[in-house]
Amino acid sequence: MDNTAQKPVALVTGASAGIGDAVTRRFAAGGYNIVAVARRKERLEQLASSLSGTAEVAILAGDVSAPGIAERAVALAKSTFGRLDCLVNNAGSGKWAPVHETDDATLDEVIDISMKAPFRFCRAAIPAMGPGSSIINVGSVFGTLGGLDGGIYCAVKAGLVGLTQTMAAQYGAQGIRSNLVAPGVIRTDMTEAAWEFPAFQRVNQEMTPFDRDGTPQDVANTIYFLASKEGSYINGQTIALDGGWSTTKYLCREALVAERK
Ligand SMILES: NC(=O)c1ccc[n+]([C@@H]2O[C@H](COP(=O)([O-])OP(=O)(O)OC[C@H]3O[C@@H](n4cnc5c(N)ncnc54)[C@H](OP(=O)(O)O)[C@@H]3O)[C@@H](O)[C@H]2O)c1
Repeated sequence: MDNTAQKPVALVTGASAGIGDAVTRRFAAGGYNIVAVARRKERLEQLASSLSGTAEVAILAGDVSAPGIAERAVALAKSTFGRLDCLVNNAGSGKWAPVHETDDATLDEVIDISMKAPFRFCRAAIPAMGPGSSIINVGSVFGTLGGLDGGIYCAVKAGLVGLTQTMAAQYGAQGIRSNLVAPGVIRTDMTEAAWEFPAFQRVNQEMTPFDRDGTPQDVANTIYFLASKEGSYINGQTIALDGGWSTTKYLCREALVAERK
């Protein structure tokens, strides 16, 4: 039986890896069809074929900052599935540098990928959405707190909080909710190299009052919940996913008793 028209549809940017891959798999398992956007076409094709039999995944390979791609992605949702129920703005540039070392090219790149592109995807998606739909932006705890060397990355993630709140006010009354998830450090390609540095482990493990690191599945489960009927009174919120890192002044006992050199 063709159930394409009945299944809800999620548009996920940055679906080819990490958190976006996990989000796509979670929504597929939850009964959604997906429009998956990222630059690496072969990764999207692998994702689609690994989900065949569970969900239909329509892929759009391209840069989220390219002109017109947001409109094309929404048009693909409508032409393939006839509807759009959820937008997950997940693609993001992980470029991380202090303000005084950030050149204009980096400034423009991060703003284009992590601020302008989510804005344009929201702008394109909202007219296609009906009551019961929702938008989830992927921010960062570093968009709600300052972070060493954070620069423009922290600034755009803070900007997404403002965008989320104003969309919640603007479109909530018509049944379109907007929320933001703010992960702490999650093990993905974006952070893999950083885990080699002891200082990075110390900041993220010794200062987190939890017994494990965060995973892409932790983020995907929360995004799925926010989109679901069970999350249907949550609007305009920032949900931190960091094991308590950002809301505590925690330091593990070993670090507390360690001798300073
Ligand atoms: N990992 C963390 O610790 C962490 C913490 C807080 C927030 N976040 C946020 O979570 C989101 C996902 O990060 P991740 O850790 O999953 O990173 P990741 O594993 O590096 O994946 C990034 C995804 O975004 C896509 N992408 C990047 N630039 C793109 C562009 N210009 N156009 C289209 N797609 C693009 C990549 O696909 P292609 O390369 O195929 O284009 C990939 O699918 C980002 O917004 C990031 O800022 C991550």
